[in-house]
Amino acid sequence: MCGIVGYTGPREAYPIILKGLKRLEYRGYDSSGVALLNADLKVYKKKGKVAELEESVVGKDVHAFTGIGHTRWATHGEPSDRNAHPHRSKSGNLAMIHNGIIENYASIKQDLQKKGYEFKSDTDTEVLLNFIEDIKENNNCTTEQALRIALKRVVGAYCVLLIDKDDPETIIAARKGSPLVIGIGKGEHFLASDASPIIEYTKEVVYVNDYEIAIVKPDELILKNLGNEKQTPFIQKLDMELAAIEKGGYDHFMLKEIFDQPGSIFDCLRGRLNADAGTITMSGVENHLPSLINAQRIVMVACGTSWHAGLLAEYLFEDICRIPVEVEYASEFRYRNPVINKGDVIIAISQSGETADTLVALENAKEKGAFIFGVVNAVGSSIARMSNAGAYTHAGPEIGVASTKAFTGQLAVLAMMAFKIGYAKGTIDEKRYQHLLTELWNIPDKVAQILEDTSNIQAIAEKYKDAADFLYLGRGYNFPVALEGALKLKEISYIHAEGYPAAEMKHGPIALVDENLPVVFVATKDKYYEKIVSNVQEIKARKGKVIAVATEGDTVIPGMADDVMYVPDADEALAPLLSVIPLQLLSYYIGIAKGLDVDKPRNLAKSVTVE
Ligand code: AGP
Ligand code: GLU
Repeated sequence: MCGIVGYTGPREAYPIILKGLKRLEYRGYDSSGVALLNADLKVYKKKGKVAELEESVVGKDVHAFTGIGHTRWATHGEPSDRNAHPHRSKSGNLAMIHNGIIENYASIKQDLQKKGYEFKSDTDTEVLLNFIEDIKENNNCTTEQALRIALKRVVGAYCVLLIDKDDPETIIAARKGSPLVIGIGKGEHFLASDASPIIEYTKEVVYVNDYEIAIVKPDELILKNLGNEKQTPFIQKLDMELAAIEKGGYDHFMLKEIFDQPGSIFDCLRGRLNADAGTITMSGVENHLPSLINAQRIVMVACGTSWHAGLLAEYLFEDICRIPVEVEYASEFRYRNPVINKGDVIIAISQSGETADTLVALENAKEKGAFIFGVVNAVGSSIARMSNAGAYTHAGPEIGVASTKAFTGQLAVLAMMAFKIGYAKGTIDEKRYQHLLTELWNIPDKVAQILEDTSNIQAIAEKYKDAADFLYLGRGYNFPVALEGALKLKEISYIHAEGYPAAEMKHGPIALVDENLPVVFVATKDKYYEKIVSNVQEIKARKGKVIAVATEGDTVIPGMADDVMYVPDADEALAPLLSVIPLQLLSYYIGIAKGLDVDKPRNLAKSVTVE
């Protein structure tokens, strides 16, 4: 999820770690901290920017040859000084930083509390750290052995750096699901979540693998697996420049984040969806299930891409939960004096959790007695804090201005909510519920399949990059996807594009169609398929160019279209999580073909915190 730096060697550790954390700032974060180990163990941490941490440490003792540093993107426990990393164990002898999510932290925390452990923070990380110490004390074993035992019992993703006051030169590291790179110096070692803090010191690195533990001393690196068997470190030479490293080897953050989606959607499902057991665990929903089940009306309130997620949620909640849904642009909703009745449920959708229009719309609704449920990516953000309940999308920091992985994270959360509420209400039966859970569980792998080869989409982008206008058409669940595809193109390529319900064409827009107009059909196999085939024929009859998003194996639509982008088959309620991917890529590649700054498009801000 966020940033990790460690150093052990002959040099002062603090300056190296601080500079490394600044190198990682591009990843987005909400707080930072360092632990420095010499004769004693010192921990300094603070909410906000690394510069604020640096300022808070001025004049304090930072002398140390071993240290660890962290930039946090909160998943459990809102951004604050006390929730920042590093965390210290109960004895004060251990300090740890962590990237990732410990899914079963709550049960571990309960067991530790029964033993008298008290916690200074709300994080899963502090629980893991005290779990390690508890094992160490009760098994009279080393810190490394205790870590190994603990990691065999935790469920989730982690990259941890752990230091022990009684072993001042050593950093113990472990990873599963969150990256870790170790830089090999002369009599010194550097550790980080990517190579950007390391590259200025050494180009010789070891990429630690999942389920490996590294014991790192100034002049020794030992790698072991969780079975305590030594592994031979595979030393590689860094051949990327710093700028490329920051983007994970991708040319742009937007492309990196599009390719992050198999992982980010999985992170959203992690700890919540268990298709085998047929369960969805969402405390924000469970704690308020009667209010949600008995809601007379649900109002989705959002802006931009998040509004498209809300529109899709309208189809989901009405189809599956049989609850009336309205979808409101926050900027309109806040001013038009809407009718809001007590017992109305407002679902606020926001990546940043700071969008001004959405925030004020919610404040007004709350004053009128509405129940607010927040679907937010940024933990502890304003919208998250003002909601009565919520569910985080766990998409990780989204740097590109155009929202991609946050959007699919929103869809995944909203789908789980609709399935859980619909099943609890009895508006979907066991069979449909189980089918939908299995379909959703399979989405990350299907997204990965789409991303395996994007050369076809690059070619389509090259072919149509000079068009003056685009139309995006879809029906049913794919109509909001058409709107989202049009927005992505506008934002990234500055080409005018409109999304429309496909059947609406004959009510006017079809006058636009000629041989210069590319029309993108989101035409995956669903109950509207026969209808959308007719809509494609209407466009073709007027010489329009048809670019289709079609289901793998379909031959009819591809037989009519000028160009096709295929996606795997999926239940229509979940198909948007797949059909949006080619549209994200199409806008990205057209923007690139036009030589534009796809990460920072003109006139746009990542979070619109003003009216
Ligand atoms: C989407 O690509 C845009 N960046 C924009 O429409 C965005 O979705 C909108 O500003 C809402 O932002 P939020 O999700 O952070 O509230
Ligand atoms: N889950 C941990 C927390 O919320 C780590 C978050 C991160 O990866 O930065 O503190």
